[in-house]
Amino acid sequence: MFWLLAILAYLLGSLSFAILLSRMTGLADPRASGSGNPGATNMLRVAGKRLAILTLIGDLFKGLLPVVLAAHLGFDLQQQAWLGLAAVIGHLYPVYFRFRGGKGVATAAGMLLGLYPPAALLALCTWLLTFTLTRTSSLAALTAAPLTLPLLAWQQPAALLPMCVLSGLIVWRHRSNLRDLWAGRERHF
Ligand code: G3P
Repeated sequence: MFWLLAILAYLLGSLSFAILLSRMTGLADPRASGSGNPGATNMLRVAGKRLAILTLIGDLFKGLLPVVLAAHLGFDLQQQAWLGLAAVIGHLYPVYFRFRGGKGVATAAGMLLGLYPPAALLALCTWLLTFTLTRTSSLAALTAAPLTLPLLAWQQPAALLPMCVLSGLIVWRHRSNLRDLWAGRERHF
């Protein structure tokens, strides 16, 4: 049952809302414009506010649903976290889109919201504060992810391992942003 749910979570996570909404509205593939990332930030750059918000909600929901469903079915917290992570991995490496996906921030936020809402709130506040100060989405994500992990691990030690994997994956997927931040050419709003 767990492995079946993990596969379903991965398939759900593979639904890239940025790519799907762009196709539905006749826009170019977001992987070919702006930063090249199929996520809400890049959709805001290349497709406007409305599609960016829809992308954010869709991607967030992909992380939330497997965790909530797993909790409902009686899986323990660590299993819930692994299932949320399966959805994030789907978002990063989507089977429907040649495994070229996004950076996982919104889907991870949905996963956090399901696992432990105070950690999601802390992540949101950290993201908003960093973004307001720097106008840089990637820096906001790279600040929020590592700051949220200790709170979650402290309150919910069972989620420590999946959360470490999650943070590692998010940082890894932001490596081009890290290079651009270092070189002073990262995109700002
Ligand atoms: O959530 C993605 C964000 O952290 C970076 O997006 O498009 O600026 O590379 P982007």
